[in-house]
Amino acid sequence: MLVPPDLCGKLTWLSGAREVAESDPVATIDGHDVTLFEQWAVRRARPARARLRADEPLVTGQRVVDLFFPIAQGATAAVPGGFGTGKTMLLQQIVKWADVEVVVFVGCGERGNELADAVADLMALKDPKTGRDLRERTVVIANTSNMPVMARVASVYTGMTVSEYFRDMGYRVVMLADSTSRWAEALREFSSRSGELPAEEGYPASLSSSLAAFYERAARVTTLGGGEGSVTLIGAVSPAGGDMTEPVTSQTVRYVRCLWSLDRDLAYARHYPAVTWRHSFSLDDALIANWHAAQGRVGWNDSRARALALLAEADRLASVVELVGIGALPSRERVVMLSGRLLREGVLQQSALSENDAYCSPKKQSALLDMVLAVHERCLALVEGGLPASAIEEIDLTAVIRARDETGPDDDAGVTRLRDEVLARMGTS
Ligand SMILES: Nc1ncnc2c1ncn2[C@@H]1O[C@H](COP(=O)(O)OP(=O)(O)OP(=O)(O)O)[C@@H](O)[C@H]1O
Ligand SMILES: [Mg+2]
Repeated sequence: MLVPPDLCGKLTWLSGAREVAESDPVATIDGHDVTLFEQWAVRRARPARARLRADEPLVTGQRVVDLFFPIAQGATAAVPGGFGTGKTMLLQQIVKWADVEVVVFVGCGERGNELADAVADLMALKDPKTGRDLRERTVVIANTSNMPVMARVASVYTGMTVSEYFRDMGYRVVMLADSTSRWAEALREFSSRSGELPAEEGYPASLSSSLAAFYERAARVTTLGGGEGSVTLIGAVSPAGGDMTEPVTSQTVRYVRCLWSLDRDLAYARHYPAVTWRHSFSLDDALIANWHAAQGRVGWNDSRARALALLAEADRLASVVELVGIGALPSRERVVMLSGRLLREGVLQQSALSENDAYCSPKKQSALLDMVLAVHERCLALVEGGLPASAIEEIDLTAVIRARDETGPDDDAGVTRLRDEVLARMGTS
């Protein structure tokens, strides 16, 4: 049991094992009864002894997040994306796979049937780590679009308070809010009814400080009891018409450590998760790179940097190709275009619906990335050896793209085997 934060003193009585109602005292501390039920004003952050540096990654099993825009335990992320770009899917993947002890999912202002489906899905899921029901460690706070405005304002704060409550017990918690835009709209409605002066797009002038205060509550802390716990906060943002300059999105971006921006063109092209590498960021990447290095994965940061550079160069070349055609590019640049495609299709894309690919262990993530980089190096070497780019483009590299789906979620050795086969074949072409 957790002693309320404002109570301290000598434990004078402790109940034996028995069934209790929520109002039954189970302990007495200096004359105060303690129950298993606790009240807390949800807008107020629960206290902790100290904030700690957030430098350990929260593994989500999603490659684009873990490899390219990693999030630390106790940090914050926003997932902005237009209608139907995959916000809910991405958040639900994190519900299933995040390496935390407790998950708090707040469905805020979403359609009732969608939320009902999500809850039904969740009920049926098994925890991949323990084999027990996932619902045993998941809290769902459901606020559908037909509920009152104040309930919507409260839902997000309630989720945060529940998260902090488990944090105070020494657990690692991830809280997901889908969608914080609906919450901000509720704040807007409430403030206009209570006669506050409207600011940008009718939102209250206090929108920015409300968002800041909310994201501020995510942290890795030393609890009052001396243990360690964390709340990682991930919020979906749904800008109307995909307009990233609207107030909620632009203010949120200022307060989060990670931005996983969903791109409409990628979603239309069925590139899922549609997280764009152009406008996303992680401010904790250097800390997390250090953590990986300390775990013995020294090449992690180098591979990541090379892959991001390759993606950026492939994007730049794609706009050149639109003007002059691929034939006009020198061989080396054609190889970059090819490798960019391998990265996008073999590493960044990840189907939430595939049994092998829905979750990808960190070892397999690195193996996949290293395979594409190794193939890229080999292609470059072949071009330098005089092979024309057109011949390289004819090499069958589908094995590289299919590796993510054809090896088990944990099977980095399988990926390495495939890589060696592909390289061996290329050596003789
Ligand atoms: N990782 C993924 N793997 C496979 N399919 C995906 C993935 N992400 C999204 N999709 C597809 O995109 C569809 C829309 O996704 P989702 O409902 O998550 O979008 P959304 O951004 O939450 O939409 P809304 O704005 O309506 O809330 C899904 O039904 C699914 O078909
Ligand atoms: Mg959604």
